[in-house]
Amino acid sequence: MNTLELVKLNKHYGKKHALIDFSFTFTECVYGLLGPNGAGKSTMMHLITDNLDPDADGGCVRWNGEPVAKLGKEYRKQLGFMPQQQELYANMTAWDFLGYLSALKCIPKKDAAVQIRSALEQVELSDVADKKIGGFSGGMKQRVLIAGAMLGDPKLIIMDEPTAGLDPKQRVMIRRLTQQLAQDKIIIISTHIVSDIESIAKEIVMIKAGKLLTHGTVPELVQQVKDGAQTLENLYMQYYGGSDADVSV
Ligand SMILES: Nc1ncnc2c1ncn2[C@@H]1O[C@H](COP(=O)(O)OP(=O)(O)OP(=O)(O)O)[C@@H](O)[C@H]1O
Ligand SMILES: [Mg+2]
Repeated sequence: MNTLELVKLNKHYGKKHALIDFSFTFTECVYGLLGPNGAGKSTMMHLITDNLDPDADGGCVRWNGEPVAKLGKEYRKQLGFMPQQQELYANMTAWDFLGYLSALKCIPKKDAAVQIRSALEQVELSDVADKKIGGFSGGMKQRVLIAGAMLGDPKLIIMDEPTAGLDPKQRVMIRRLTQQLAQDKIIIISTHIVSDIESIAKEIVMIKAGKLLTHGTVPELVQQVKDGAQTLENLYMQYYGGSDADVSV
């Protein structure tokens, strides 16, 4: 059973304290990371994926007990990351882009072809595999990135707002796909859209102004609603509705 531990993580950008003493242990299931704009979701994900260093003395991220900064390549091989920003190469075809990602992950060429074919099938892009990404719609680009995050059968998948810009049909597709992927994996999906995660996440982690606010299953969390129906949306409004979450603390 793999575990991912965030140990008292802190991250400053200049004076902005974006993540504050954030501790949490993830085990194998689907997590929804919920928080408004500026809450620190992407910062946390970049620290988890070792794309960003915490502050000096700002805690650490541990994969099965070992600091990820030490594990390096061994850790990256087990990691699938779908970043929030669409950094895609417009002139590459979907196939070539995924081939490029496979090479970065050191997946042998023969295996890569099999995996790319399967990933494209799962995100329903097989028929445009040889088309240039530059001509894709926003939703298609998102799905190429999701396919990329699936390569190499990673044990930890981090998706930063995977459903941003998708139409309802595609949102459902992504939800189903995530559920299929979930076996034996830690999957962390960030969003500020409650409905995207409430049915698939086993546990919801709520973040506000860089701090862990609360966490639990949906039935557990909705008991915290003080006014109105016990829904996750009402809890979201209770915690994030009243103030600008993007303020320094
Ligand atoms: N490179 C940076 N330089 C300075 N400030 C930054 C930088 N990246 C993030 N921040 C600030 O840190 C805070 C957390 O940002 P972060 O991007 O982690 O939030 P988020 O929860 O992912 O937001 P969103 O939902 O908008 O993606 C915000 O106040 C943001 O303005
Ligand atoms: Mg973000």
